[in-house]
Amino acid sequence: MAPGADGSRRQRVTPIVKDDTMTPLRIAVLGAGLIGRRHIQTILAMPEAAELVAVADPVVDPAGLDVGAAAWFADAQEMLDRVKPEAVIIATPNALHLQQGQWCCERGIHFLMEKPVTVTLDEAAALVQAVRQSGVKTLVGHHRRYLGVVQQAKQWLADGRLGRLVVASVVWATRKPDAYYQAAWRTQPGGGPLLINAIHEIDMLRHLCGDIHAVSGVKSHANRGFAVEDTAAAVFEFDNGCLGTLACTDAGLSPWTIEQGSGENPAFGYTGQSAYRLIGTEGSLELPVLRAWSPRVTGEAAWDKPIVGDPLLPKVQDPYQVQLSHFQRLVRLDEPPVVSVLDGARTLAATLAVAESSQTQARCVPRAF
Ligand SMILES: NC(=O)c1ccc[n+]([C@@H]2O[C@H](COP(=O)([O-])OP(=O)(O)OC[C@H]3O[C@@H](n4cnc5c(N)ncnc54)[C@H](O)[C@@H]3O)[C@@H](O)[C@H]2O)c1
Repeated sequence: MAPGADGSRRQRVTPIVKDDTMTPLRIAVLGAGLIGRRHIQTILAMPEAAELVAVADPVVDPAGLDVGAAAWFADAQEMLDRVKPEAVIIATPNALHLQQGQWCCERGIHFLMEKPVTVTLDEAAALVQAVRQSGVKTLVGHHRRYLGVVQQAKQWLADGRLGRLVVASVVWATRKPDAYYQAAWRTQPGGGPLLINAIHEIDMLRHLCGDIHAVSGVKSHANRGFAVEDTAAAVFEFDNGCLGTLACTDAGLSPWTIEQGSGENPAFGYTGQSAYRLIGTEGSLELPVLRAWSPRVTGEAAWDKPIVGDPLLPKVQDPYQVQLSHFQRLVRLDEPPVVSVLDGARTLAATLAVAESSQTQARCVPRAF
């Protein structure tokens, strides 16, 4: 394994504990594009968790794509009616999320929706209502919540190891290759780093720091000159009094994205650098390089006292595999969802509030769900 920019090496992957006592989910995937294929590979690698019964995609040629024994359909609705999967992963373009989620609700099919949960907040409200009425179980694909380091950080916070959380600071900065923008939609509103990338960071901030009640934001397209933003900066006010900042760009080269720091995405070069800093009254925590900073002498928390940074041993697992295992337990054992459609709607509201605040030049209160 290649060393990171700081000379550190990625940790060994912790195997996921298999549970053979539950039957696998009969699962289908809608959309066999970039992320749909990752879900398909994950399902095929975890037969104890799920059996891939069908894939639906009107464009992709299934020849050359390994879908195991799954049936292939061009029409998603026809697939749902003929195959009757008990669960579905929706990995289609954002504009289809509401409709396809509603199809699942009408048929009593549990679903995992890729992020963003929908395009607009009105759509999100409609989907939340459909889910409530149908009683189906849902997840939204904010897969970072399943990273071992994030689970460890969450526990660290819950144990009060940082004291009271004061401020959180996140950078997501990378330079996307020019070829990325050959897909025209990526240059138009909705296709930029705010809804594609920063939404994950904002979900992570909500997960670690709590709900957000106000957002101030600025967007800019000064670097690439497309209609969509290439850079955004935001300040978040959390219900617990904590403040947070986010700097996000897809036009600047840096080692600071959670993907680069954790190695979760093989498309990003591994750097082993932290992109998150969580700061409390008694200490701090860096992520995804799990390092905890605290006073050398317990209780001596002040700038004139020595402070030490201790690396914690990160647990490394494939978050998509952990997510699928959780989806199985959610359906089979009624495990509470790590991130439901309702929770995904709240993350969408906080994300869109950055754009709204930038437009109105005023502090924005995210829509309540
Ligand atoms: N969790 C993550 O980190 C992550 C990463 C990438 C994408 N995503 C999300 O996943 C979704 C898909 O993104 P992508 O990058 O894979 O896009 P993509 O364009 O690569 O794939 C989308 C696929 O959906 C198919 N499709 C279109 N209409 C369909 C229909 N009616 N029924 C079934 N399939 C249909 C397309 O043919 C295409 O193959 C988006 O919502 C995106 O935001 C999430």
